[in-house]
Amino acid sequence: MADKKFGWGLIGYGGMGNYHFEKLSLRDDIEIIGTYDINPERQKIAESKGLHAFSSAEELLNDERIDFITIATPNEFHKDYAIRAMEAGKAVISEKPVTMSSEELDEMIKCSERTGKLFTVHQNRRWDPDYLTIKKLYDTNKLGRLFRFEHRVHGSRGVPGDWRNRQPGGGMLYDWGVHLLDQMLMMMSGSKVISVYSTLTHISNDEVDDGFTALIKFDNDTEWLIEVSTNNFISLPLWYVLGENGSAVINDWDFNGKISMVTDWENKDAVPVVAGVGLTKTMAPRTDDSIDDYTMEIVKSDWAEYYDNILDVLRGEAEPLITHTQQRRLLKLIENIFKSAEENKVIDEIF
Ligand SMILES: NC(=O)c1ccc[n+]([C@@H]2O[C@H](COP(=O)([O-])OP(=O)(O)OC[C@H]3O[C@@H](n4cnc5c(N)ncnc54)[C@H](O)[C@@H]3O)[C@@H](O)[C@H]2O)c1
Repeated sequence: MADKKFGWGLIGYGGMGNYHFEKLSLRDDIEIIGTYDINPERQKIAESKGLHAFSSAEELLNDERIDFITIATPNEFHKDYAIRAMEAGKAVISEKPVTMSSEELDEMIKCSERTGKLFTVHQNRRWDPDYLTIKKLYDTNKLGRLFRFEHRVHGSRGVPGDWRNRQPGGGMLYDWGVHLLDQMLMMMSGSKVISVYSTLTHISNDEVDDGFTALIKFDNDTEWLIEVSTNNFISLPLWYVLGENGSAVINDWDFNGKISMVTDWENKDAVPVVAGVGLTKTMAPRTDDSIDDYTMEIVKSDWAEYYDNILDVLRGEAEPLITHTQQRRLLKLIENIFKSAEENKVIDEIF
């Protein structure tokens, strides 16, 4: 059984579709059967790379060699393809966001339950080293209890001019937000969200959000600020976290940053320093005798585990890493973020 090759099909051969194709081409436990893309140009490019292009999605879904498919179309097509594929007997991986509302997600989950077919999502950023590094700080209590997380992704090019620029599937909350929020919910998996307040931006785009800021509180006294923005010509750090005994910053994906830990909390008296046109001792910077700085110990990861898990599930030897319950919670949070921004109020639903 371990030697069986699983046949794979791809719907949507764009940027991310090609990423899946290239990665899966390196594996010897998967047989690449083919793709379907609505754009004839993309079909030609697929063929030129040795990837068979089916003439329709139906033809792909009827191919008995295909055990599972990845859907990498624009977001608004994930639901229908997922349902059609499961009904045709295929296991399904949808790109993120799985779909755009929890109501739609429930239809997909029901279909999975009815057909008995695997239905999961590509939340690949659970393997991001920056996230895993911060998660380790949290799990090990290295800085004492962490009470505030700020996680930002800042760009300066607006929303790309493709489907991300338009309703119904575009905007940054569905694009990057879904990754950062999923990471947060995974890190806080033992705690409940107790409130959400958010704002969306429309600096360069009226139709969809080109950024958002969400302040999310958990019942473990932890507060998160999640921000995605596309109009920052100076980026703020990717991660900034505060613990009772230390702070950590990761500035960028190259891991520039540091941890600073207090060595002697009681040693906190300071001579007032000049701040602007006044004096302060509260905000006087700490001196070297009570602070130690460390470089970040990066947690390594292997994203190949994602598809290893999928194959183990297909063999009946594992449960999917990315579950329906997690996806429901994530979409609920996204819905509450949209609602908070629209109504300009705190949504204090507990979940
Ligand atoms: N997990 C990640 O890190 C990550 C990164 C980028 C994109 N994505 C996701 O992957 C998906 C695709 O994004 P992308 O950046 O590759 O976009 P893209 O525009 O590069 O590719 C989308 C492809 O789908 C095709 N397509 C459009 N409508 C179709 C339809 N109805 N049927 C079949 N094909 C159709 C397009 O012709 C295009 O080739 C999105 O859901 C996006 O959110 C995930």
